[in-house]
Amino acid sequence: MVQIESQTANTSYKQDEINYMVTLYNVVSSDGYIATKDGNEDFISDKTWDDFIRWCRNNDAVVIGRKTYETLQEYGEKYTDEFESLKTKRAVVTGNKEYKIKKGYVAMSSPQACLALGENILISSGPILNTSFLSEKLVDKIIINALPVKIGNGVRPFKKNELDRFTLISDKEKSDGSRLLIYQVKSVA
Ligand SMILES: NC(=O)c1ccc[n+]([C@@H]2O[C@H](COP(=O)([O-])OP(=O)(O)OC[C@H]3O[C@@H](n4cnc5c(N)ncnc54)[C@H](OP(=O)(O)O)[C@@H]3O)[C@@H](O)[C@H]2O)c1
Repeated sequence: MVQIESQTANTSYKQDEINYMVTLYNVVSSDGYIATKDGNEDFISDKTWDDFIRWCRNNDAVVIGRKTYETLQEYGEKYTDEFESLKTKRAVVTGNKEYKIKKGYVAMSSPQACLALGENILISSGPILNTSFLSEKLVDKIIINALPVKIGNGVRPFKKNELDRFTLISDKEKSDGSRLLIYQVKSVA
C-alpha cells in the first residue's frame, strides 16, 4: 500500500521520489448537479462524453465508484466499448471483496489503494467516492465541466465545503456556452 507523506499544491504525494497527480473530473449542470435524483444523466451530450474520454486518455488510470460502474453498464455498448477500449487502466472502488466485475477493470478496496495505479489518476464518480477521495485529502485538482443546461434538482458532485481547500485557477467559457473550471489544492503552509 502506498504511504502518503504530505499534501502540497501540484505535487501532492512524494514517495520514493514519485509525484502523484490525482484529478477529480465531473460534468455538472449549470445549477450544479451531476445527475437527477433518479440518476438520469441525459443532460450530458455525446460531445461531452468525447471530452471525458480525452481526459481519460491523458491519465494512467481512471477510477470510478461501484455505483458509477453499474450506471455505465446501462449506457449501452456505444459508450462502454469506447471506455473499455482505452489503454488507460480502469478501476472500480468497492468495499465488497466478493464483488465481480468485468474483465478489463480492476477492483480496488479504497481510495488510497488507487494511488498504486499510476502517477496520473483521474477520478470521475458520484458524491460517495468523490467525497471519500476529498475527505482523505487525496485530490490535487478538480475539473468541473459545467454545461449550459439546468436540471432543477439532483445530485451534487460532493459537499460544497470541500472546495474550501481549493483555489480556482482557470475558468474558460467555450463556444458552446459550457465552462471549464479548474481548481487546485491550496499549498500547505
Ligand atoms: N456527471 C458526472 O460527471 C458523473 C460522473 C460519475 C458518476 N456520476 C453519477 O453519480 C451517480 C453515482 O454516484 P454515487 O455517489 O451514488 O456512487 P459512486 O461514487 O459511483 O460509488 C459509490 C460506491 O463506491 C464504493 N466506495 C466509495 N467510497 C469507498 C471507500 N472509501 N472504500 C471502499 N469503497 C468505497 C462503495 O461501493 P460498495 O457499496 O460496493 O462497497 C460505494 O457504495 C450515478 O448517478 C452516476 O451516473 C456522474
